[in-house]
Amino acid sequence: MYSKRRMLLLISFVLSLLLVERYFRSHQVEELELSDWFMPRRRPDVITTTDWLAPVIWEGTFNRQVLEDHYRRRNITVGLAVLVSGRFAHKSLGLFLRSASKYFMPGHRVIFYILMDTFVRLPGIARSPLHTFRVLKTGIDYTWHDLHLLHMKNLGANIVSYIQDEVDFLFCMAVDQVFQNRFGVETLAPSVAQLHSWWYFRNTKNFPYERRRNSAAFIPLGQGDFFYDGSTVGGTPHQVLNFIDKYLQGVIDDTRNGLNSTYERHLNKYFFLNKPTKLLSPEYNWDSALNLPIQIQYVKVARRTERNS
Ligand SMILES: *[C@@H]1O[C@H](CO)[C@@H](O)[C@H](O)[C@H]1NC(C)=O
Ligand SMILES: *[C@@H]1O[C@H](CO)[C@@H](O)[C@H](O)[C@H]1NC(C)=O
Repeated sequence: MYSKRRMLLLISFVLSLLLVERYFRSHQVEELELSDWFMPRRRPDVITTTDWLAPVIWEGTFNRQVLEDHYRRRNITVGLAVLVSGRFAHKSLGLFLRSASKYFMPGHRVIFYILMDTFVRLPGIARSPLHTFRVLKTGIDYTWHDLHLLHMKNLGANIVSYIQDEVDFLFCMAVDQVFQNRFGVETLAPSVAQLHSWWYFRNTKNFPYERRRNSAAFIPLGQGDFFYDGSTVGGTPHQVLNFIDKYLQGVIDDTRNGLNSTYERHLNKYFFLNKPTKLLSPEYNWDSALNLPIQIQYVKVARRTERNS
């Protein structure tokens, strides 16, 4: 009975997103040409352009000054939603926010959206006039086993009600990460995916995609482009909402078929069907448990493993 009600709530949420879509404010501002700022030949040692001609951002491949001038003229505001939960929530959030306020989009307006399912005190952070912090309480609901489902539903509803009017771009990240170097405007695009630090360096097509044919997240063997990391997704609020909508629909379909997949596999299916317009190299989400290959010259964000929590 309970799960049926939950399902109906989900469905009505998805429908409300569809209805609201046409009211989106358009953020149409002329874009830069790729050739104005992107220098893929500087990094012959790595993949810098995808089959569908999307840039892959590595240290050394972009002209920061051109990008900074462009986005300063556009007077942008960037949102950073962080999903907080778990036993080490307070410590993780402190490390995340203190490092993000230093390295995430320095010089530009940033609104931090902190999604929490447990009560966590906000850490003390040096105040900057460019930074705003908003806490979005998700409420504890033990019927939602999957943290992402609850947080994404909540984030989706908040994008519809006001985030879409507050920011030009939005990133959504897991809390177990620490910024170590500048994560700047070179990462901005309509739809941004993060390459997985482990799978990028595996010479295989056998990625851990969902392989059950009946799942909404299914990708057949031998297909798929990259394995994307679920800890970072970005783009315009509209594109992020589109992903959340497809993810929730996928979960509904799977539940109907008695299946469950993971958030990351749904994300990979989404980017398989809707190719991202920009990819971030593993420098932007390096797993600190792995040895550094020579291609990684500059770790911008390090993932903390449970071990060193
Ligand atoms: C830039 O945007 C902010 C917030 O949207 C606004 O308050 C400010 O006046 C804008 N500045 C310029 C120069 O347009
Ligand atoms: C799927 O459901 C089974 C039990 O119904 C559970 O043991 C398993 O962990 C679930 N898998 C995922 C990815 O949630």
